[in-house]
Amino acid sequence: MNTGLVIGDPGTGKTTFAAHLLEAHRHPRRRFLVSSPWGGFRGVHVRDAAALRRRPTLPPVAIVGGEPLELLQVAVELTSCAVIVDEVQRLFPASEKHFDHADPRYKLLNEGRHYRVFLLGLTTAPHEVSYALRSAAYWLFFFRLCDSQQLQWVSSRCGARFAAQVAVHTGYAPLFWSPASATVAQGVSDEKVPA
Ligand SMILES: Nc1ncnc2c1ncn2[C@@H]1O[C@H](COP(=O)(O)OP(=O)(O)O)[C@@H](O)[C@H]1O
Ligand SMILES: [Mg+2]
Repeated sequence: MNTGLVIGDPGTGKTTFAAHLLEAHRHPRRRFLVSSPWGGFRGVHVRDAAALRRRPTLPPVAIVGGEPLELLQVAVELTSCAVIVDEVQRLFPASEKHFDHADPRYKLLNEGRHYRVFLLGLTTAPHEVSYALRSAAYWLFFFRLCDSQQLQWVSSRCGARFAAQVAVHTGYAPLFWSPASATVAQGVSDEKVPA
C-alpha cells in the first residue's frame, strides 16, 4: 500500500495532478523528495542526492536532480517520507525483474511500509515499468492512454471495461483504480508474471 502510479499519455495532466496532491499534503514536518527533471513542482531545488545529504536540514519539498535511484536510497535511510518520481520507468525499468536485497528498490517494495516511505511514480508507459512495481502499486490514477500495448496491461490489471474507459478518458480528473476497489464486475487482476 506504499506505492502508487499516475499513468497517462504525454500532456494529459500527470505532473499537475501529482503537484496538486503534494500541495494538499504540504506540512512543515512532512518530507517530500521529488525527482522531476522536467519541472512542474514547487520546492527547493537540490543538485543531486549527494548535495541533499550534505544539507544540515531538509526542506519540506526537495526537488532533486541526478539519479532517482540515489534519491530513493536517501529516502529509505531517511524514513517517513514521500518520494515522487516522474518517468518512473527510468527507476524501475521492465528489464529489471529482480532487485538485490541491498537495493533501495527492493527495500521500498518489500519493507517500505516498515520504513514508512511512500512512492508515487508517474509514467506514460506502464508497460515499460518493472513488473515488481506494476504489480505492487496499490493506488493507480489514470489519465487518457491511447497506445494499445500500454492499454493491454491496463486491461490485464484492471479489466477490459476499465481499460476501455481509460482509452477514451478526457479532462483533468483521473480515473482511480485500486485492487481494493476492484469487483468481479470490473474484472479483478489476472496479470501473470512474465517469463
Ligand atoms: N488540473 C488542470 N487544470 C487545468 N489545466 C491543466 C490541469 N492539468 C494539466 N493541465 C494542462 O495540461 C498541460 C499538461 O499537463 P501536465 O501535468 O504537464 O501533463 P503530463 O505531466 O501528463 O505531461 C498543462 O500545461 C496545463 O496546461
Ligand atoms: Mg509531466
